[in-house]
Amino acid sequence: MNGFSKYYQKDRQTRLNILVEQQKLSSAEVEKLAQAELDFELGDTMIENYLTQYQLPEGLALNYVIDGKEYLIPMVTEEPSVIAAASHGAQLVKKSGGFKAQVKERLMIGQIVLEQVSDAPTLAKKIKQQQDKLLTLANEAHPSIVSRGGGARELNVRILAPDMLSVDLVVDVKEAMGANMLNTMLEACAKYLEEELAVEVLLSILSNYATRCLVKVTCELPVENLTKGEISGAKIAQKIASASRLAQLDPYRATTHNKGIMNGIDAVVIASGNDWRAVEAGAHAYAARDEQYRGLSTWKLKGGKLCGELELPLPLATVGGSVSIVPLVKINQRLLELEDAKELEKIVAAVGLGQNLAALYALVTDGIQKGHMKLQLKSLAVSIGAKPQEVSQVVEKILAKKARDSATAQQILAEIRGNK
Ligand code: MEV
Repeated sequence: MNGFSKYYQKDRQTRLNILVEQQKLSSAEVEKLAQAELDFELGDTMIENYLTQYQLPEGLALNYVIDGKEYLIPMVTEEPSVIAAASHGAQLVKKSGGFKAQVKERLMIGQIVLEQVSDAPTLAKKIKQQQDKLLTLANEAHPSIVSRGGGARELNVRILAPDMLSVDLVVDVKEAMGANMLNTMLEACAKYLEEELAVEVLLSILSNYATRCLVKVTCELPVENLTKGEISGAKIAQKIASASRLAQLDPYRATTHNKGIMNGIDAVVIASGNDWRAVEAGAHAYAARDEQYRGLSTWKLKGGKLCGELELPLPLATVGGSVSIVPLVKINQRLLELEDAKELEKIVAAVGLGQNLAALYALVTDGIQKGHMKLQLKSLAVSIGAKPQEVSQVVEKILAKKARDSATAQQILAEIRGNK
C-alpha cells in the first residue's frame, strides 16, 4: 500500500502521521491512539509496526474453590456477563465442596516431519534406535532447561503415510510454554537426521495439540443445590445432563457449548499473558479426538449428584515469552497467588467448567437473555454514547420497552438529556 513502505523503520509519531496523510484515520482518531497508555519501547519490542495499546477490560471472577483453596481470578474479556456467569457457576460448585483438579504430566510435543520416505517402517525403526543420541542432541541445544530439571524425555515415530513420517520429541519444559525451546531442539535433531540418515526434512515445529499436557477438573453438586425458585434442583440437574448429552451428539451444539467454555478459559489465559490461540487450537482438536467434534465437558447424574468433568490440553506458562513482559501479568499472577504453571492450568480449567455450568444452568431455566439482559443493555447504552451517570437510567427505561435496540436507546438518551 502506498505510503507504508519501510513503515517498520519509522518512529511512532511518523507511523501515526502516515495514517492521517493516507486518509486511513482522522487526526482526532489518531490522537486517541496516541493517548492510550503505553510503553513505546516495550510495544515496539514485542510486535512490529507498533502504534498503540489496544485495551480490554479486566475483572475478577469470585467463588472459585479448587482443591480446597479459594482464588480471586483475573479475567480479560470484552463480553458482558462472562465474569458474572463464571462467578455464578463457581458459587454453585463452592456450595457443594469446590472443584477438584489434576495435571498428570506437563510435557510438550514437537514434530520433525520427514517426506519422500521410501521404506517408512524401516526408517521409523532406525530413528527409534537413535532415541538416546537424539535426546542428548536436543538437550545440548537447550542446556538451561536441563539445569532447571527439565529436558527432552521421549522420542516417538509415527507413520503418517507410506512416504511421510513424524518424529515426535517429548520435552519437559518446566514452567515455560516451551515453543522456542522445542523449536531449537527440533532444528538441532532435524539437522542430525539430515546429515546422518540422508532424510528429507519437510518442517520442524512445536505441536499445539498438547496431548501430554492435559488438565482434568471435576465437581459434584447435590441436585438440591441447583434449585431455582419453583423449579426443583433434580429437574434442573436432569436438564443440564441432557444438554451435556446434546453437546456429545451434535457438533452444532457442541461448538456453542465449547465456545461458552472458552469464554472463561480465554479470559484467564489472556490475563495470564499466555498464547490463547495455542489453547484454542489445542482445545478444539481435542474436542474432535474421536473424529466427531463434541462438547469438551460432560455433566452426568450419579446418585443424586450432578457430576461435571472437563478435560483439555492446557499448555500454560508462568515464565518466558510474553508472560514475562506483558505489564499486568505479574500483578495478575500475584492476585492468583500462583505457585506454578500446573496450578495455573488447574485454575483455567476450573473456570472453563464453572463458566459452562452457569451457561447450561441459565439455558435450561430462564434462557440466556433474561440474566444477561441488564449487562447487555449497559453495553448498548455505552455504545450509543451514554455517559457513566446516564447508563443506569437508559437501562431502566429501555427495560420497560418492547424494542430494545440502539434506535430505542438513542431516543431514551435524547429524552433523558432533554429532561434536564
Ligand atoms: C455465549 O457467549 C456463550 C453461550 O452461548 C454458551 C452456551 O450456549 O453454552 C451462552
